Amino acid sequence: MKGSIVLFGPPGAGKGTQAEIIVELTGKPQVSTGEMLRSAVSKRTELGLEAKEYMESGRLVPDQVIIGLIEDRLNEPDAINGVLFDGFPRTIPQAEALSEIAEVSAVISIEVPDEDIVDRIVGRRMDPETGEIYHVSFRPPPPDVKGRLVQRKDDNEDTVRMRLAAYHKQTKPLGDWYNNLGILETVDGTGSIQEVGESVAKAVKLH
Ligand code: AP5
Repeated sequence: MKGSIVLFGPPGAGKGTQAEIIVELTGKPQVSTGEMLRSAVSKRTELGLEAKEYMESGRLVPDQVIIGLIEDRLNEPDAINGVLFDGFPRTIPQAEALSEIAEVSAVISIEVPDEDIVDRIVGRRMDPETGEIYHVSFRPPPPDVKGRLVQRKDDNEDTVRMRLAAYHKQTKPLGDWYNNLGILETVDGTGSIQEVGESVAKAVKLH
């Protein structure tokens, strides 16, 4: 399998929001470990029951669990020409395991300072029917979908602080790891959703 792209960045940086444009440009399927885990939690599978406690307390799910999930996903036929990873890898052991099973051609890092993250996360709302991501101020939902929007259980201020701590300790060092491989592209994530989208598109076209 060849040519996967990794979307990298802190919680709430805009990875899920910007994934759409990369999927459109490359045709690669989006593989979001967060979405896969949330689906397992809502179906109350064995994996979901194990992951739930970690997710709701803002900690990372153990590496072996995540690596097994990704190995299975990459065996699906649509992964043959590479995928867009959103939220994976998040630790050096995950990145090492990935390097054994797939080629990563670009890592796009969306950079947003911690002080912006809490507002983004606390105001996020999801449409369970379409998967669309909104924000009460920065991307207000249309009136006809407002009634069905949901808020993620881990989108509260206390859990966000835990998620940020996990990001700085366990995930951020991966940026240097990929930079040393010469495949890291950094994007300023502080502009509007559209401005960040344009920078992301430019970074994708470099590869
Ligand atoms: P996951 O679902 O991956 O969450 P995350 O990394 O914390 O990322 P988010 O989904 O919160 O944010 P995002 O960057 O996608 O931002 P979004 O586009 O929605 O993981 C959840 C949990 O699962 C983890 O805590 C962990 O427990 C577990 N897990 C998952 N993967 C794992 C792994 N590999 N290893 C171990 N554990 C794992 O945007 C956020 C909000 O901001 C939205 O409301 C959006 O509208 C708004 N917004 C976006 N861009 C902008 C902008 N430019 N300006 C203003 N607002 C913006």
